[in-house]
Amino acid sequence: MATFLSLPPSVLAAVFLLLPSFATAQKDNAKECSCFVTNETSSGYFTSHRFFDFRNVASAPATAPAIISSLPNTTNAFYSSDYFTKDTWKDDWTIQNWTSSDSMVTSDATILMANSLSNVYLEKSDDADPSYTSHLTLRTSRQPDFQSVAEFDSVEQNFQYLSARFMARVIGSPGACAGMFTYLANDDPQLVQEADIEILTSGPRNVVQYTNQPAVDADGNEKPEATVNGTQPRDWSEWNVYRVDWMPKSTSWYVNGNSVAKIEFQVPKDPAGLMVNMWSNGGSWTGNMSTFDEAFLQIQWIELVYNTSGPYGGSGAKKRDTDDIGFSGPLEKRKKKQQGCKVVCSIDEQVNVTGTPAVLSNNTAAAPLGWKGEGMGFMAWMPLFLISGTAFGYL
Ligand SMILES: *[C@@H]1O[C@H](CO)[C@@H](O)[C@H](O)[C@H]1NC(C)=O
Ligand SMILES: *[C@@H]1O[C@H](CO)[C@@H](O)[C@H](O)[C@H]1NC(C)=O
Ligand SMILES: *[C@@H]1O[C@H](CO)[C@@H](O)[C@H](O)[C@H]1NC(C)=O
Ligand SMILES: *[C@@H]1O[C@H](CO)[C@@H](O)[C@H](O)[C@H]1NC(C)=O
Ligand SMILES: *[C@@H]1O[C@H](CO)[C@@H](O)[C@H](O)[C@H]1NC(C)=O
Ligand SMILES: *[C@@H]1O[C@H](CO)[C@@H](O)[C@H](O)[C@H]1NC(C)=O
Ligand SMILES: *[C@@H]1O[C@H](CO)[C@@H](O)[C@H](O)[C@H]1NC(C)=O
Ligand SMILES: *[C@@H]1O[C@H](CO)[C@@H](O)[C@H](O)[C@H]1NC(C)=O
Repeated sequence: MATFLSLPPSVLAAVFLLLPSFATAQKDNAKECSCFVTNETSSGYFTSHRFFDFRNVASAPATAPAIISSLPNTTNAFYSSDYFTKDTWKDDWTIQNWTSSDSMVTSDATILMANSLSNVYLEKSDDADPSYTSHLTLRTSRQPDFQSVAEFDSVEQNFQYLSARFMARVIGSPGACAGMFTYLANDDPQLVQEADIEILTSGPRNVVQYTNQPAVDADGNEKPEATVNGTQPRDWSEWNVYRVDWMPKSTSWYVNGNSVAKIEFQVPKDPAGLMVNMWSNGGSWTGNMSTFDEAFLQIQWIELVYNTSGPYGGSGAKKRDTDDIGFSGPLEKRKKKQQGCKVVCSIDEQVNVTGTPAVLSNNTAAAPLGWKGEGMGFMAWMPLFLISGTAFGYL
């Protein structure tokens, strides 16, 4: 393939250092990017980008929603605020209200879990840092007869390869697990596919677990090659950027841009969704949480770049209105060879504003086909640095 898609980002970056550039600020225009490139050894190109920013939501309440002590009222609770009823949220995420009553018998859980819409909420920040005034919170709290838990899932259930980043911290009592992971369900636990980031509030504060599930075999024996018990310099109770790159041959994890794990064993292979949760079931993994204790997964922002396989799994036939436009469509692709990506944007190199991809190259004006080699591709590029991004804020 004679397109610059085959060039590593380090080459792109090196080339553009030598070229004149200008910068201009624009709002909401990752639409101008045709594809998105990531850095590091797990680098890849992706067709879609999302940035979910919870840092400055003016309407974020100062106090958390009251904890609901009745089990039926927990699962029947409504959203904590209007934010979660708007398309900017609902097009991409679904907050859960299931209980674990069906699965309890087949696990080592000792307490029923009940998800509640009211356990996912925005709140004003107590931190002194002026760069953010709010964040998203997922809460779990132990009630006498059940564990009130929080989860939201991606509407898109056909991710096939992605790089996901979460600016997050975990605080609160021991006995909970914070999860950020790709997920493909299966009735047979041995056939579940997951690439996980898991933080145990009972564990050391510098330890985070990274796993391509399942981590145990059918006989209950651990599969050491499926998991890494990672350590990091900054405790998980502080804000860190957790990144998972799910790629065809490996899953790689980074914290604040530093590699913490790479697993080539049991890499998820089929299209999957993305989940974020804060839970405890009194089992051997999470441990028990003391009655009336609470723990929290807090998130400032989430950035995703991804490809999909198959249709958008959303309710209704609504087409997403952003970003998914870069590469030639599947029909066209069958007719011609892959034309490559006209406007290449990075979410790592050259990015000066979090969530705002940087244009690395613009090949729109060049002849799309017939390049004889990379040299011609280089000549055809238009040197351009342009701030670009789509921010899903709440205004
Ligand atoms: C994403 O899709 C584009 C276009 O088909 C392709 O060039 C790229 O390699 C894909 N990325 C991954 C990680 O598979
Ligand atoms: C559950 O919610 C209903 C309706 O709001 C309320 O009347 C009832 O008192 C609640 N039950 C408990 C145990 O809080
Ligand atoms: C989830 O909430 C809906 C109403 O929004 C309710 O009909 C359903 O029963 C709830 N699920 C559970 C498990 O309680
Ligand atoms: C991970 O390693 C730490 C020691 O660094 C240990 O305390 C902890 O129990 C380990 N966690 C798991 C899940 O094995
Ligand atoms: C990759 O990008 C991240 C920012 O997204 C940065 O922290 C990290 O240092 C970069 N890695 C390399 C090898 O340049
Ligand atoms: C959690 O508490 C229950 C009793 O409520 C106990 O049976 C179980 O062993 C405990 N689990 C762990 C992991 O300590
Ligand atoms: C980001 O900042 C660097 C250093 O000031 C600059 O060279 C680069 O062009 C900027 N990137 C964008 C996209 O503006
Ligand atoms: C890319 O180049 C085309 C043609 O020169 C131009 O119309 C377009 O605005 C450019 N896009 C970006 C993001 O710079």
